[in-house]
Amino acid sequence: MTIADSAGRTTAVARLAELRQRGEQPLSAGPRDAVDRQQTPDRLTARERIDLLLDPGTFSEFDALARHQCHEFGLGDRRPAGDGVVTGFGTVHGRQVGVFAQDRTVFGGSLGEAHGRKICKMMDLAIRTGCPIIGINDSGGARIQEGVASLAYYAEIGRRNVLASGRVPQISLIMGTCAGGAAYSPAVTDFTVMVDGTSHMFVTGPDVVFAVTGEKTTLDELGGGGINAAVAGNVHYLATDELDALDWVRVLLGFLPDNCEDPPPSYAASPDPLTVTDRDRELDTMVPDAQHQSYDMAEVIRRVVDEADFLEVSAEFAPNIICGFGRVEGSSVGVVANQPRALGGVIDIDASEKAARFVRVCDAFNIPLLTFTDVPGYMPGRQQEELGIIRRGAKLFYAYAEATVPLVTVVVRKAYGGGYAVMGSKHLGADVNLAWPTAEIAVMGATGAVSILHRRQLAALSGAERDQAAATFAAEYRSRIASPYPAADRGYIDAVIAPSETRVEVTRALRALRSKRESMPPKKHGNIPL
Ligand code: HXC
Repeated sequence: MTIADSAGRTTAVARLAELRQRGEQPLSAGPRDAVDRQQTPDRLTARERIDLLLDPGTFSEFDALARHQCHEFGLGDRRPAGDGVVTGFGTVHGRQVGVFAQDRTVFGGSLGEAHGRKICKMMDLAIRTGCPIIGINDSGGARIQEGVASLAYYAEIGRRNVLASGRVPQISLIMGTCAGGAAYSPAVTDFTVMVDGTSHMFVTGPDVVFAVTGEKTTLDELGGGGINAAVAGNVHYLATDELDALDWVRVLLGFLPDNCEDPPPSYAASPDPLTVTDRDRELDTMVPDAQHQSYDMAEVIRRVVDEADFLEVSAEFAPNIICGFGRVEGSSVGVVANQPRALGGVIDIDASEKAARFVRVCDAFNIPLLTFTDVPGYMPGRQQEELGIIRRGAKLFYAYAEATVPLVTVVVRKAYGGGYAVMGSKHLGADVNLAWPTAEIAVMGATGAVSILHRRQLAALSGAERDQAAATFAAEYRSRIASPYPAADRGYIDAVIAPSETRVEVTRALRALRSKRESMPPKKHGNIPL
C-alpha cells in the first residue's frame, strides 16, 4: 500500500493504516491448498493452539513481520510474514511462559534462518527471565531450500535447549508430522506430548527411509504415537486429541516452578486432617498375603497424595515403574514407585531410564521425591545384559545419588538386592525411610535364598519331604532376614509404620524437610552413564 498522500507527504493516519494492514494475521499463513489440507476437524492451526494453551487474551507476539531472505528454488516469490512460526509470550494460570507454534501450511512448517532466529529470540528471553518454554512442533525439520542456514538454526535451538535444561522447564508438543530437528529438539526437553492418530515423530520420514535404505514403511510404523509412547519411550503423554494435549500441558505446568531458583507452585493445603482416616485404613489390607499376588501401586499413591490427584507421566512406557506428580499439603511431589502389576515391578533397562530422567527433572526443579518400593530387583537375563542393563540400569542409581531435594521412601513389600539399594535407600542419600510391616528387605527373595543357603540339605531330600523342608526354610528366612526389622535395627529404616499411617508420616516428613538445602561437591559436571 502507499503511505503518501496526493502531495507526496506521509501522514500519521496512513502510517497507522499500514501498520494495521501488516498486522492482520491469517490463522494460517500458507497457500490455499496447504491451508485446506490443515483444516481437518482434528487439527488446529498454530494460532488456535497458542490461544488454547495460554490464558485468554494474554499472548504477545514477536516477529510477526519477520520473513526469510532465501531466493533459492523459487522461494524468493513466496515470503509470507512470520515465516511459518508464531512466537511470543503469554501466561498459563497467570504465570508467564514463552511459546512457539509452527505453521505447517508454510513450507511444511520447515525451519529456515528467519524461522529459527524467531524461536531462538523467544528462548533467549525465556532463559533470561526464568520462565518455562513451550514448543508446539509441526514441522518437516530443516528447510531443505535454505541448506546450511536451516541446519545452523536447529543447532542453535538445540544449544539453547541445553542451556535452558535444568534452568527452566521445557515442554514439547508434537502436533502433525515432525521430522529431523523437530524431533531432536523436543528430545532434549523435559516433557514431550504427542496426539494419538494425528501426530508422528521420526528422524526421517518414510520417503527418505525408502530412498536411503529401500525399506518400505508407513508413518505409523515409523513414528506413530503408540511407537513413540510405548516402545521408544520418547513421549510422556499420549493425548486423545489436540485439546487434550494442550490441557495436559496446562495441568503439568501447575506442578512445576517457573525456573530452578523458584519453589514449585503451592496451592491451598488439602482439608484432610493429619490423623488417620478411614480411607487411610484401606492401605492396611492393600498388600495381599500371598507372596506372588499383585496389587495396584497406583492405589497406594492415590491414598497418599492430596485428593487422590496424580498426574502420571510416561504411563505407556515401562509400566513396571510409575512416575508422576501429586501434591502433599498443596505442594508438588514427584512420585516414583514400582508397579507389582507389571513384570512384578522389576527394574529393567526401560524402567531405569524412565525413572532416572524423572528423578533428575524433579531434582532440577526443587520437587521433593516420594518413592514407594516393591521391587524384586534388577531384571536378570541375557537379553537385558546384551542391551546394557549394567550401564543403563546404573542411571537410576546415579540419579538418586545426585538428587539433593527432600527424599522420602516407603518400602511397601519387596526390596531385594540392587532394587533395595537403588529405590531411594538411605545409603543413596534419602532423608526419611519408612517401611510397612509387610516389607521384605533382603539380598534376594526367599525361594532363591533357600535354594542357595540350603542346597545340600534339600538335595538329600525328595518329593513332599523336600517341598516341606523348603517351605520351612523359606518361612524362617522371611521372618529372620526378609523383614523390615534388620534394616530398622541399623537405622537404615527410620520407622516401621502401619500402612494406614503412611499419608500422615509422609506429610510430617515433608514438613520436616521443607528447609533442606544440600548441594553436590563443586565440579564441572558429573558423568552419568549414557
Ligand atoms: C522444505 C518441506 C520439508 C522440509 C516438508 N516440506 N518437509 N519443505 N523442507 N524439510 C514441504 C513439502 O515440500 C510440502 O510442500 C509440504 O511441506 C508438505 O509436505 P508433504 O511431504 O506433502 O507432507 P506429508 O506427506 O505429511 O509428509 C511430511 C514429511 C515429509 C514426512 C515430514 O514432508 C518429509 O519426509 N519431509 C522431509 C523430512 C526431512 O527429512 N527433513 C529434514 C531433516 S534434517 P508443498 O509445497 O508441496 O505443499 C533436520 C536436521 C536437524 O531436520 C538438525 C538437528 C541438530
